[in-house]
Amino acid sequence: MTQSINESIHAVGVVGSGTMGRGIAHTLLRHGYSVLLSDASPHSLAAAAESISNALAGDVEKGRLTEAGKRQALAKLKTSAELALMVSANFIIEAVTEDFSVKAEVLRQLETLCAPEVIFTSNTSSISITRLAAVTSRSGQFCGLHFFNPVPVMKLVEVVAGIETLPETIEKASALAVSLGKTPIRVNDFPGFVSNRVLMPMINEAIYAVMEGVADPQAVDGVMKLGMNHPMGPLELADMIGLDVCLDIMKVLYEGFRDSKYRPCPLLEKMVHARRLGRKTGQGFYDYRSKADTAY
Ligand code: 3HC
Repeated sequence: MTQSINESIHAVGVVGSGTMGRGIAHTLLRHGYSVLLSDASPHSLAAAAESISNALAGDVEKGRLTEAGKRQALAKLKTSAELALMVSANFIIEAVTEDFSVKAEVLRQLETLCAPEVIFTSNTSSISITRLAAVTSRSGQFCGLHFFNPVPVMKLVEVVAGIETLPETIEKASALAVSLGKTPIRVNDFPGFVSNRVLMPMINEAIYAVMEGVADPQAVDGVMKLGMNHPMGPLELADMIGLDVCLDIMKVLYEGFRDSKYRPCPLLEKMVHARRLGRKTGQGFYDYRSKADTAY
């Protein structure tokens, strides 16, 4: 197991145990960190603990971790449905649902639990870091730490500076990303940052192409995979990210820039209304109901 090189961080608090929270917790554990994982839903927490344990077992099978390393990593995971668990954390990664009011409420509670020097980061995919930081009294010690799905595999962490973020906060967050084997790239806080400002309009346009009958999903994805060497087509990727997340991000771009080029495709909205959200609900642009989903 790679040892944590960031000795100043003794316990990372991960709030939210959905796909991203689980992936982040697993990656931290694999690299020797102690992890405090909290989620208001005991059901999601139990499922997260199980999938993290399975993912660590997968690391053992692939020779990335010894059996003893796996046991040590699991011993470093504490879970609780009570946010009070975070009182022992000295670095926070918030990864709850992509909804400003939900994140703001979690941040307000964390503010009362954590010492002022504890750095707060958010894994938000597009909500303004400046706006989230303003909910707390530590906007200098607040930045975006945007991981990519599947977290253990993807090399990038987008480190997002809000208007008040101090350079040392960016440095510490970037050092944490490096200690996880990731490459941090610093960007400024504008709607969608860089990643989703570029990625989501491509996905949205691919959905327009399907809606307008230009081609079916397989053909759209085939063009992008074979013609542009993308590892996944935009519609497969949208199914993996979650169509609800894609729609939320398009809304943030549309409202943030007030520019019609970011209007969400009506077919995307329709699919979200029908709860065809992609892999997580079994149906999106493709049908996953007969396949075991390997994602967290
Ligand atoms: N969770 C964990 N590990 C996974 C995984 C998952 N869901 N899916 C694949 N992997 C691992 C495999 O176990 C394998 O690991 P190994 O090399 O140790 O054996 C490795 O990834 C490669 O997997 P495969 O050989 O099965 O498949 P591929 O070579 O096709 O790679 C992929 C799969 C890495 C998912 C690749 O298709 C890819 O890079 N797709 C694009 C992903 C992407 O763009 N992600 C960003 C989404 S945007 C985002 O997250 C931001 C948000 O704000 C919206």
